[in-house]
Amino acid sequence: MSESTEVEGRRFPAPEALAAQANVGPEVYEEASRDRLGFWAKQAERLTWAQKWDEVLDWTNPPFAKWFVGGKLNVAYNCVDRHVEAGHGERVAYHWEGEPGDTRTITYAQLKDEVCRAANALTELGVRAGDRVAIYLPMIPEAVVSMLACARIGAVHMVVFGGFSADALASRLTDAGAQVVITADGGYRRGAPSALKPAVDDAVSRVEGVRNVLVVKRTEQDVAWTEGRDLWWHDVVGRQSTEHEPEAFDAEHPLYIMYTSGTTAKPKGILHTSGGYLTQVAFTHWASFDLKADSDVFWTAADVGWVTGHSYIVYGPLANRATSVMYEGTPETPHRGRWFELIQKYGVTILYTAPTVIRTFMKWGEDIPAGFDLSSLRVLGSVGEPINPEAWLWYHQNIGGGRCPIVDTWWQTETGAHMINPLPGVTDLKPGSAQTPFPGISAKVVDDEGNELGDDTTGLLVLTEPWPSMLRTIWGDDDRYVDTYWSRFGKQVYFAGDGAKKDADGDIWLLGRVDDVMNVSGHRISTTEVESSLVAHPAVAEAAVVGASDPTTGQGIVAFVILRGSAEDSGEDLVQTLRQHVARDIGPIAKPRQIMVVQELPKTRSGKIMRRLLRDVAENREMGDVTTLTDSSVMNLIKDKLPASA
Ligand code: WTA
Repeated sequence: MSESTEVEGRRFPAPEALAAQANVGPEVYEEASRDRLGFWAKQAERLTWAQKWDEVLDWTNPPFAKWFVGGKLNVAYNCVDRHVEAGHGERVAYHWEGEPGDTRTITYAQLKDEVCRAANALTELGVRAGDRVAIYLPMIPEAVVSMLACARIGAVHMVVFGGFSADALASRLTDAGAQVVITADGGYRRGAPSALKPAVDDAVSRVEGVRNVLVVKRTEQDVAWTEGRDLWWHDVVGRQSTEHEPEAFDAEHPLYIMYTSGTTAKPKGILHTSGGYLTQVAFTHWASFDLKADSDVFWTAADVGWVTGHSYIVYGPLANRATSVMYEGTPETPHRGRWFELIQKYGVTILYTAPTVIRTFMKWGEDIPAGFDLSSLRVLGSVGEPINPEAWLWYHQNIGGGRCPIVDTWWQTETGAHMINPLPGVTDLKPGSAQTPFPGISAKVVDDEGNELGDDTTGLLVLTEPWPSMLRTIWGDDDRYVDTYWSRFGKQVYFAGDGAKKDADGDIWLLGRVDDVMNVSGHRISTTEVESSLVAHPAVAEAAVVGASDPTTGQGIVAFVILRGSAEDSGEDLVQTLRQHVARDIGPIAKPRQIMVVQELPKTRSGKIMRRLLRDVAENREMGDVTTLTDSSVMNLIKDKLPASA
């Protein structure tokens, strides 16, 4: 089973045994292209509807889509109750493992009881359908319970990743108009309790409209307490009844808001709705990973605070009655084999993770996975950024034992579910390429004018037909929704913001963002957001931020700053202060890898910062074309300032 590192042109055909029993075969593409809407309607039948739809898609007012018009369903009922009613109450929904090694096994019947209790508690707190509830929790089962409880009563959840700062939380609370925040005293991170409640206290003190903070006890850290506002989860949820009648909501009823970085400093609240979203996450989860609900143990190793967690830890797996693993902590705690130990312990059959993690494992060495029994694995997934062929091969060989197909899934917070990926029982795999639009999805590579491009020509990725799990708008900002995604090539064509090319076989290769969004360890961070944070510091006069390629994290954040007169002589201390400042301001994931103090920034004659040149510097490359610079000597000034190792 030895694999040469010669990657170019190599194909990995679908394993025969897997193909013979795969959930979907090659005919699925033909079926979907014959009747796209009929195909999606058929997939919607996987769900239980209280009232069937009259029309599959209403696209009369693009880009505002309505899917399964007139249909009614309850998302939480579909994820939990119906499985219990069908006699699967004893099946495990989650094998949860805390970072310190504590565990909880949660069956579908237990999950149903917890969700009902939490739904009753939220109702008691005055939360009604359409109200927004913020969730700022570690990776503990209460995160899933909270999301489903919101869905059950028609409240819109807004999960904020626990690694975000009080500031980031405050701006999201304000933008969404949240009334209740669900949080915890803290969670475990790298072997120690890490507090969450102080950030909530700080954020809530600065915003209007948050009535209650519901606090899960996880770490037993001391917490400050605001009487009347703060409530313990175990008090309020604990005393509720496990009976709760789910109400059916419109297929287009809002399900959740998830904030993501755009090209300006203000994050966008991506809005997802119910029927179409659940249809596509359930179907893609089942087809992309060949999920067998009765025998697979599925693990999306991501945080529920990201869209990957929403769609493939919570909604897709639960809609499909899957058994999932959920892990609270980091991969290196208490040792670098923790993930492999979990795979061995729970007999994980499908693992879904990000290239940045694979590259970290590569760095740690293949001896670590080799020390565990990973033979239960049969399908592997990748998400978040292009997976470079070397990492693909390493993943295939050292984690997948040379036998597991790797499903490289391209999608976005905005798309809600998988959009471009191979199918494990069908596609001959090509390391590094996401390959094929998912059945029922139309993707093209176009030039700046929107003309479709021929083979091996680099262009822009667009989606040319609406899809069920598409975002419906940006929360509170329809104009920004239209401008950002649907104006570049007209109101019927979705501009994804990614560069791409098609090869001679028609396979799609994703080439990274074409806008000012960086991808650091699979997390989207806007250059503008980091620049704004830096400029807000009293020592900084001007800042320009670029994403420079990084062997582990995909891209690393490199900032160029011009200091204010009074701060000019400060050195390394100031750089560290600024890095900490950004981490505090936005969150540790946004902390610049490197900050260079410069005298000038390269600008075009119209005053735009030439990031392309800064990226050349940050990546230590020969400088590109400088002819549009106002003053090309600026670049020499910057280069002279560089440490030799930069
Ligand atoms: C990038 C994560 C190449 C891409 C689900 C996209 C990828 C952005 C892949 C969305 C992939 C995600 N291959 N690039 N398989 N998956 N991306 O919103 O640039 O956090 O636009 O959603 O990540 O990131 P987001």
